[in-house]
Amino acid sequence: MKTNRWDNYRKANDKFPEVRKKELQLMLKKVNPQSGEIIMECGTGNGYLTFPIAQKLGKGKLITYDVTPENLDAVRKLNKKFNLPIEIKQQTIFYDFEETDSSMDKIISIASFHHYDNKIKKTGFSGRLEALKEFHRIIKKNGKIIIGDVGKNTISSKYFDSINNPKFCFPEGHPHEFLDKKEIQNLCLQTGFEIESYEVAHVPWVFDSEDQAKEFLHTIHNAKCSPEESLAHAKKYLKFWKENNKYYLDWELFYLIAKKK
Ligand SMILES: C[S@@+](CC[C@H](N)C(=O)[O-])C[C@H]1O[C@@H](n2cnc3c(N)ncnc32)[C@H](O)[C@@H]1O
Repeated sequence: MKTNRWDNYRKANDKFPEVRKKELQLMLKKVNPQSGEIIMECGTGNGYLTFPIAQKLGKGKLITYDVTPENLDAVRKLNKKFNLPIEIKQQTIFYDFEETDSSMDKIISIASFHHYDNKIKKTGFSGRLEALKEFHRIIKKNGKIIIGDVGKNTISSKYFDSINNPKFCFPEGHPHEFLDKKEIQNLCLQTGFEIESYEVAHVPWVFDSEDQAKEFLHTIHNAKCSPEESLAHAKKYLKFWKENNKYYLDWELFYLIAKKK
């Protein structure tokens, strides 16, 4: 079977679900899902945010979109076991969504928004702008978008720029540009959203051992170098330390909450 980038992305997150728990906990706090809400997620991945959110929605539902059909298949299969209120939908790279009315309470996305634009294709911010226009169309008045993503000039963006090379991230490298606060503020202004809060937070990845860190990094980025090289490279850009028998690799994300005006 052909293994693509996202097969290995899911594999790393499925095998080591605790590694990104700090990132996830902060996102859950920001999203603050309530029973009965209709929430749309963009960027399903392995369902890392999908399942914990859907668990809280009671008679509400989570509609999750991804451009990668294999991610959607994996989550559909897993949800046969959990039977949570999750609707799975195919996202297009034009960022037009199926919804015909403004019925979403919240729209959420983690670690995915930067993928909407591509430096090789020179899309600038246009993918993200289109998505925000669509978010505005399908969200209720006063509804909120909550985006957790890599910000410009953070340790995570510097690391991602350094793996823009198929050796460290196969097959394309990591050809994505990140947004700073002003840029995301401008995109929100242009599309009718008002920023309620914006925070850049350190949410280090947590490992049981150095070997686990090697395997996780190597797998999540579908690297073609050795696992040792994947970790050695990450250590050049991200602080790595041991504390109380756990190993930490520093990581930084912005968390934005913006309201439809
Ligand atoms: C880094 S993963 C994040 C997945 C999940 N939210 C998580 O945090 O584990 C990025 C996601 O973006 C999706 N993606 C890839 N290319 C994309 C594109 N051109 N436009 C939008 N999403 C894309 C992938 O399918 C993947 O699910």
